[in-house]
Amino acid sequence: MLDKTDTHLEALLRRRKPGYSLEAPFYTDPDIFASDLDLIFGRHWIYVGVEPDVAEPGDAMVIDIGKTSVIITRNDDNEVRAFHNVCRHRGARVLQDYKTSVGNLVCRYHAWTYDLDGKLLFAEHMGKDFDAGCHGLKPVHIRSLEGLLFICLSDDPPADFDDMAARMAPYLAPHDLKNAKVAFESELIEPGNWKLVMENNRECYHCAGNHPELTVPLFAYGFGFAPEELDDMGRLEAQRYADLVKASHGEWESCGFPSQMIEHLDDMVTGFRTERLPLDGAGESHTGDTRAACRKLLGAINDPRHGALHFWTQPNSWHHFMSDHVVTFSAIPLDAERTLVRTKWLVHKDAVEGVDYDIANLTAVWQATNVQDAELVGLCQEGARSPAYEPGPYSPHTEMLVEKFCNWYVGRMRAQGAR
Ligand code: FES
Ligand SMILES: [Fe+2]
Repeated sequence: MLDKTDTHLEALLRRRKPGYSLEAPFYTDPDIFASDLDLIFGRHWIYVGVEPDVAEPGDAMVIDIGKTSVIITRNDDNEVRAFHNVCRHRGARVLQDYKTSVGNLVCRYHAWTYDLDGKLLFAEHMGKDFDAGCHGLKPVHIRSLEGLLFICLSDDPPADFDDMAARMAPYLAPHDLKNAKVAFESELIEPGNWKLVMENNRECYHCAGNHPELTVPLFAYGFGFAPEELDDMGRLEAQRYADLVKASHGEWESCGFPSQMIEHLDDMVTGFRTERLPLDGAGESHTGDTRAACRKLLGAINDPRHGALHFWTQPNSWHHFMSDHVVTFSAIPLDAERTLVRTKWLVHKDAVEGVDYDIANLTAVWQATNVQDAELVGLCQEGARSPAYEPGPYSPHTEMLVEKFCNWYVGRMRAQGAR
């Protein structure tokens, strides 16, 4: 029987049982949620959006994480920059809208005006001794990984982002995300703790029973199975899939699409995983008919049959890069029991809606899948609130990556000196 008497974070982290889901307070306790925001979301690289969100100089996007609000903008030199969304006068939010386009960043309270590099250009009535040079917007660390934008709220961001970026750039580059556009985006508030959202994303054990749309392009044996439970037919199918992955990797790699799995989910501070996987049916895309949803392919890709590149980062993102479109997801914690999932669908920037692609067809699979996942996460959240809840065992064949997510989380919390 689990000793549930000491619910201090340090004790909970110390007694975490490997191979099992976390104890209930990790999913429900507002104090642990506050520690998560501070130690995980305040000190690691957080995926927040894509360069095409701020495609032109003056485009700006606001990202809120806990009490922190960040402006991401593109300056006149075409560089993406990030600043705290806090006016250096009396602290007003400078930008209120999620996305906008500006000449300069003007605080509406007293019209202090900053340029797109955060420099204070104008502050009326401040007298001759006022030093505008000391009152620029505070910068936030930001990195673009082939167009995927990550911010770090810490003064001292994890340095191994560079290692991840060096390994990942060749995988992502062929899709040329910087020259794509956001064709559609959705916001969904999932009724569960952010860790339940991530755990749900890190396995496909639940897919066959819950995702009729998503399982059309996916292979039944693509996400693990217990070998001893397979009958002859199952064994044959599993072998066929393994052979297909091997042959596909060889073919794709020979034409410049790195495909082999790289997995550092719990042994790097900036944990990540990637692999390019074949798709079923026509083999082109995550769509209802498995065919490309956009006629104009990304970058210089000239064949839609390049499967789907999965890319995950700890603690809060997953992405699917296909030949014709990219779907990208960020999970932003709102409180202990609610998480915002932002999904963006990107196509080539020159693709024309209604001619090259249809939004409903482009987004159908993941719109449906997100809603199904939100419901599943809600079911677990309700369970975690019950006195009857206790951590349950992960499948060693289909939930290894959920385990790695939890290992990463527990390890990082401990490393940050969680109390
Ligand atoms: S608070 Fe922004 S100008 Fe006064
Ligand atoms: Fe799912």
